[in-house]
Amino acid sequence: MSQRDLHLRPAVPADLALLRHWDEQPHVIASDPNDDWAWEEELARTPPWREQLVAEVNGRPVGFIQIIDPAREDSHYWGDVPDGLRAVDIWIGEARDLGRGYGTRMMNLALVQCFAEPGVSAVLVDPLDSNTEAHRFYERLGFEFVENRRFGEDDCRVYRLTRERYAQGQD
Ligand SMILES: CC(C)(COP(=O)(O)OP(=O)(O)OC[C@H]1O[C@@H](n2cnc3c(N)ncnc32)[C@H](O)[C@@H]1OP(=O)(O)O)[C@@H](O)C(=O)NCCC(=O)NCCS
Repeated sequence: MSQRDLHLRPAVPADLALLRHWDEQPHVIASDPNDDWAWEEELARTPPWREQLVAEVNGRPVGFIQIIDPAREDSHYWGDVPDGLRAVDIWIGEARDLGRGYGTRMMNLALVQCFAEPGVSAVLVDPLDSNTEAHRFYERLGFEFVENRRFGEDDCRVYRLTRERYAQGQD
């Protein structure tokens, strides 16, 4: 299968059962044990500071990715952050689809989208401190470790990909 066959489309209310099913997968729970994504409510709204996207390979859904503007996001999850940032959450739905390059392709598409906006200076991610595979995944994409930070009940690492570093990686 060509990687070009992967694309992102908006998540819609009809994805409710799929996203709930993915939420029950052990690798998804392990990466995000304490969050309730309130899918029923959230899929019904499209706030201007967020995109919720489903990745499909040849029409088959394989993963989810969310892009937010952390300065405008309404729960202020990221606290007091400046304008010009984006924050991304990502997961592959089924364990059999892990490690097949889909996550890299999804993230690359999301990064193109983020940096297409001239005002965006950097993209943030916040894997659990224990999620060493995700750290490696982000580092390979060019993200740099910023700090350890506790979000609610979760000990996380903040990683950042600046526009400059992203551009270097595109050369
Ligand atoms: C992180 C994630 C999105 C990467 O997507 P992917 O399609 O599996 O990754 P790719 O195939 O493009 O790249 C493989 C790399 O992903 C990373 N990875 C993370 N978790 C992995 C897993 N459970 N299985 C295989 N690779 C994993 C590894 O760094 C791997 O590289 P390696 O070959 O050096 O081990 C995906 O593994 C996933 O959904 N993990 C569980 C949820 C999660 O941790 N999300 C991030 C939370 S911040």
